[in-house]
This record gives sequence, C-alpha cells and structure tokens, in this order.
Amino acid sequence: MNILVINGPNLNMLGTREPTIYGHETLEELMMWLETSPEGVNHNFKFYQSNHEGAIIDTLQDEREWCDAIIINPGALAHYSYSIRDAIVSINKPSVEVHLSDIHNRESFRNKSVVSDVCIKMICGKGKNGYLEALELLKSN
Ligand code: DQA
Repeated sequence: MNILVINGPNLNMLGTREPTIYGHETLEELMMWLETSPEGVNHNFKFYQSNHEGAIIDTLQDEREWCDAIIINPGALAHYSYSIRDAIVSINKPSVEVHLSDIHNRESFRNKSVVSDVCIKMICGKGKNGYLEALELLKSN
C-alpha cells in the first residue's frame, strides 16, 4: 500500500510542544517509528507536515493518484476546517484521523472534529500508537 501520512499545524513542534500532553518525541521520530515498525514494512510512505491549510489540501490533491490510503492528524484544523473535510471526500481514499491527545477530555472546542465522519475512524488519546492503529486498520480495510 502507498500511504500518505499528513500532520497539520504545530505538529512540527512535537518534542518541545507541551510534552505533558504530546510527549517528548519529535514528529520525525514518530514517523520513523511508524515507517520502520513491523506493521509498516512492505508499505510505502510519504510524510507531509504543514502549518497551512491550503498546503495540506494541495498535498491531498497532488498525491491522490499515488496514495491508496491516508492517515491524517489535522491538528486544530480538525475542529473547524471544512476545506480539509471536502478535500478528503473529493479524493475518495480510505482515511483515518489520528490525534495524539484525547480531544474529548480537553478544552470544549476540541471535542468536535469536522472531519471524523468522512474518515473510517478517529483514533485519539493513544499517543503515537494511534498512528500504528490507523495503519493496522487501513491494512485490514
Ligand atoms: C492534536 C489535537 C488538536 O486539538 C491540537 O490542536 C493539535 C494536536 C493531537 O494530536 O492531539 O494540534 O491534533
């Protein structure tokens, strides 16, 4: 499978960003861990991070021919970006939404995701294991 992994705004700050919530590992370490995990071998990955909504939409569109499935942590865009939601629907690929933290048990504005119902599943509160769970789900889909 060709898997596009997208991380949205501020996830490039992992490692130093609120480590009590997001942990001490960098995004690069997390993505490397995913790619080299036993579940990841035999699959092709493209990793993309951006702080810009439009750039994420451009990547989803640009990679629509290449990718078979998508893992996306939209960051805060999950809570309000109808454009990201529309992009996921437009390209029509199985997608799983991941959040490192448990968005249901934080500030109320994080409770809602506007992309979750266009994804196969939303996984949150499991730290980096959420990405792995997303991969397993896409493999069995
Ligand atoms: C996050 C949760 C979002 O609410 C937040 O804005 C993020 C990270 C997570 O992975 O837990 O940037 O997506």
